[in-house]
Amino acid sequence: MENYEPEIVAFCCHYCAYTAADMAGSKRISYPANVKIIRVPCTGKVDAIHIMKALEKGADGVYVAGCLEGDCHFKTGNARARLRVARVQKILEDLGWEKERVAMINMSAGMGERFAKTAFEFTEKIKSLGPNPISQGKIEVQAVS
Ligand code: FES
Repeated sequence: MENYEPEIVAFCCHYCAYTAADMAGSKRISYPANVKIIRVPCTGKVDAIHIMKALEKGADGVYVAGCLEGDCHFKTGNARARLRVARVQKILEDLGWEKERVAMINMSAGMGERFAKTAFEFTEKIKSLGPNPISQGKIEVQAVS
């Protein structure tokens, strides 16, 4: 798995992490192309099913990046997202997956460096875990009719 490049989905709050990613870009701070950003109005809009669906579709890791604790523009969105991420981590553990495939991260709009550092660190963590069990063919996903 020397050349393994993980697929990572980052649900980023419009007000902070997405802006931080923009800032990283404008400061020419690079971050891994493995990280695919999905902009959301607030991390409170990210439900457990969105994270699970990303994993089911082949993402090797997913993180939810929201405003700093206490700074959510919708008051408690990031707190609710943290609880949902913890719930998904528990589900992954119950399935025998590594819970580290999913994470909650907080940052402000001005933290371009932190955005890039997070993207690098998360990518390295997922590289060490390897592909997710679905994409390895260890688990079959069946449609429910
Ligand atoms: Fe950023 Fe809620 S507005 S996490």
